[in-house]
Amino acid sequence: MLSIEREVCGCDFGGNSWTSQQQADDQIRILGLKSGVKLIDLGAGSGWPGIYMARQTGCDVTLVDMPEIALKIAEQRSQEEGVADRVSTCIADAANLPHENASFDAISHSDLLCCLVRKRGVLEQCRRVIRPDGIMAFTVISIAPGLSQSEHARALANAPEFADMESDYLALLKASHWQVTEQV
Ligand SMILES: C[S@@+](CC[C@H](N)C(=O)[O-])C[C@H]1O[C@@H](n2cnc3c(N)ncnc32)[C@H](O)[C@@H]1O
Repeated sequence: MLSIEREVCGCDFGGNSWTSQQQADDQIRILGLKSGVKLIDLGAGSGWPGIYMARQTGCDVTLVDMPEIALKIAEQRSQEEGVADRVSTCIADAANLPHENASFDAISHSDLLCCLVRKRGVLEQCRRVIRPDGIMAFTVISIAPGLSQSEHARALANAPEFADMESDYLALLKASHWQVTEQV
């Protein structure tokens, strides 16, 4: 599995998002990550791409997810990568974060929103915990617009459980008071 991940995504953190190394590098650039920047990576799983971002840039990262087992793997990996002093983990629901208001400079998440129902709740929490001039970058697996009915059904059958949604991400971001600067 790891060798497939290396070949397809360019990483080997046991990730289960489709975020490639190229996309993680793009997010590093967009977020302006560097030493001293406080990043929170939501739905962090076993540490992809949060630990990679900490390793590449010197930033501090808080990894948030719900299964403790994934975060234990992430803690082990952060030691192996020599960044354990800048990586902390937190078991929490991304729609109900325990962190104080305006406590992070940057937020990332990789295919988190397509794996849960409360997308707007998560985006509102992100808005609450980020500093007013902070930046968020994320990936989602979403159903392409303009598909025929049968194509849409096929896409849905192969997508993560909550990939389908009534309104689009731009509308959700606007409703949760985010200003969108770049969409790929
Ligand atoms: C597609 S996986 C991505 C994991 C990792 N970031 C990666 O790239 O491999 C989505 C992650 O979101 C987590 N997740 C789902 N709902 C969540 C919630 N409400 N709060 C926090 N994490 C959640 C899952 O446990 C899972 O680890």
